[in-house]
Amino acid sequence: MSELKPQTGMLEGQVAFITGGGSGINLGIAKNMAAAGAKIAICGRTFEKLEKAAEEIREHGVDVFPVAADVRDLEAMEKAFVETKATLGTVSIVVAGAAGNFMSKVEDLSYNGFKTVVDIDLIGSFNTAKAAHEQLKETKGSIIFISAGQSLDGYSHQAHVCAAKAGIDKLMKTLAIEWGPQGIRSNSIIPGPIDGTEGMKRLSSPETLPMLIQSVPARRLGSVNDIGQAAVFLSSNLAGYITGAVLPVCGGQTLGGSGLFNFAADQFHKPAK
Ligand code: HXC
Repeated sequence: MSELKPQTGMLEGQVAFITGGGSGINLGIAKNMAAAGAKIAICGRTFEKLEKAAEEIREHGVDVFPVAADVRDLEAMEKAFVETKATLGTVSIVVAGAAGNFMSKVEDLSYNGFKTVVDIDLIGSFNTAKAAHEQLKETKGSIIFISAGQSLDGYSHQAHVCAAKAGIDKLMKTLAIEWGPQGIRSNSIIPGPIDGTEGMKRLSSPETLPMLIQSVPARRLGSVNDIGQAAVFLSSNLAGYITGAVLPVCGGQTLGGSGLFNFAADQFHKPAK
């Protein structure tokens, strides 16, 4: 965090509730929002992990509330939002970021394996939005869903994630339409490959990493701060007229439906002098 130049005050007076906030991209978002002045509730399954993450965020001198709940459990999420309001104030920013992932071809994927990821990612996002709604209506706040490139296209070994993330983006757009008149904005971020995250560990190996970086037009992995900064922007007044949008923060990687063609083109095409 020391290299981060916070947009001090951009989210002053806001209360942010972030699911999956105990690690990775979502913890990065929490830190960036804290640096911008928001009070932070981080929600996840394991209280000890949340408490450790909360200590890191407190460095910014903001109030942090770690609250344990499983996004698959609507009642638990409703309770978490009630407790957050009592502790920090009414929530005005929600980040639905909790996700699960593993690599598996459909033929090796059990019913329960497919359902588990859909339950965490898609049903979990629905539960988060439902539980947040009353407070977002009160604050005329905004919700950000953490989607993925898998929402846009088919990805090998990722049918469960593709189905869940595509569903999330359609949920996001429907909420933009239904909740727009209530003053609530709804958007998604599509992170590219982000350095040091659980997702990167699960979807790549040291051997395949150079190839993966080659598929990113920006030719680097993203950082959790790249995503955190975008989330601060999307939840700030600077984005006051943006709703129903899917924002790729991916160094251009989601343009990569033709990634192998682009890679091969660099190898064979010799421009005329
Ligand atoms: C095949 C698997 C599997 C694997 C689990 N399952 N891992 N199937 N290959 N590698 C199956 C199990 O066999 C079981 O089905 C079912 O999934 C549920 O498994 P559980 O372990 O009981 O579930 P649970 O404890 O709820 O754990 C959920 C989880 C786990 C998703 C499986 O990995 C998890 O908690 N992950 C959270 C952290 C995480 O994944 N972070 C990365 C997010 S990255 P059966 O039939 O045996 O009962 C991300 C990025 C997306 O989302 C895009 C990036 C570009």
